[in-house]
Amino acid sequence: MLKEIYEQPKAIRETIGSLIPETGAISIPGLENFSKEFLKSINKINIVACGTAMFAGLSARVMFEQICEIPTEVEIASEFRYKNPIINENTLCFFITQSGETADTIAALKIAKKKGAKTIAIANVVGSSITREADYTVYTHAGPEIAVASTKAYTCQITLFSIICMYFAQQIGKNLNIVDILKKDLLELPIKVEETLKLSQKVKKFANNIYKEKDVFFLGRGIDYASCQEASLKLKEISYIHSEAYAAGELKHGPISLIENGITVVSILTVPHLVEKMVSNIQEVVSRGAKTLIITNQDLADKNYDNIIKIPKISEFLSPVISIIPLQLFAYYISKEKGLDVDKPRNLAKSVTVE
Ligand code: AGP
Repeated sequence: MLKEIYEQPKAIRETIGSLIPETGAISIPGLENFSKEFLKSINKINIVACGTAMFAGLSARVMFEQICEIPTEVEIASEFRYKNPIINENTLCFFITQSGETADTIAALKIAKKKGAKTIAIANVVGSSITREADYTVYTHAGPEIAVASTKAYTCQITLFSIICMYFAQQIGKNLNIVDILKKDLLELPIKVEETLKLSQKVKKFANNIYKEKDVFFLGRGIDYASCQEASLKLKEISYIHSEAYAAGELKHGPISLIENGITVVSILTVPHLVEKMVSNIQEVVSRGAKTLIITNQDLADKNYDNIIKIPKISEFLSPVISIIPLQLFAYYISKEKGLDVDKPRNLAKSVTVE
């Protein structure tokens, strides 16, 4: 897992590949047949996947909605396949899967196809089963991912979605100013991931302080809430610590009753217009005695927090790729400190090919 965490700059660089030209329009091999007319006729995007791949979809949803202005739903494949989804020939369905062999995701794709929706597989393994079923396939280039806990596949999926999203936005003429910024930021992404990996010792120190805890909570808003859900899955998967991710605005609607002296709360803050709201949520847990770790690219210099991991600044749409890095390391160091088998956690298989 550690090796794969450190392979992320290279994996992201390879996923970007030559898709982003210095000048001219983005084009995506596999999607050349997408006409402007079809993209303009899309009534909804559905993103369907399991586990970490589904959490990558949550970040993609924010991009499709904010940049392309296309309504987007994210569904767990095992739910989608049994719910008679409301989709038609004007729905575009993405199926994200590292292995390309996940039974629920493949079954969900077959249902979408039967209902006439256009299907795109986002896969990492070339020639995997899902690529033979989908109308179109676009590959991430993460290289083989062996550890059960997915790391580089996840960051490559979000990277690839940012490119697909820019491509769609260019085709339909939406928010081209955001596309220009995103394009520039994307080319700096691998270097910023490298810089973030250098923060590992600070993460390790915090992890070694709390590895005996029974519960850890993650708080975030907007796209950071998506990252919190992935961070929480990573932690429970390999450290066996119970963890939950909450949209921070939900605290007052229940979860705050769980916050007591000494509890660990990890917060992610990268969305500029939500910083103030997050700061007040953090205050609420700190005043109840929580130990906090804050992952941010915002300036919180005037706040007196003990543990802040300052990550490089980037467009909010790409921030999930950066903010998850310290939290992958966090899960890794806790698992190591507990003497667990990081790469093969109990009860889990790398790919779930049966229901
Ligand atoms: C992630 O760490 C998990 N091991 C798991 O959630 C995984 O992402 C999920 O099973 C989906 O796998 P896939 O991407 O191969 O379809």
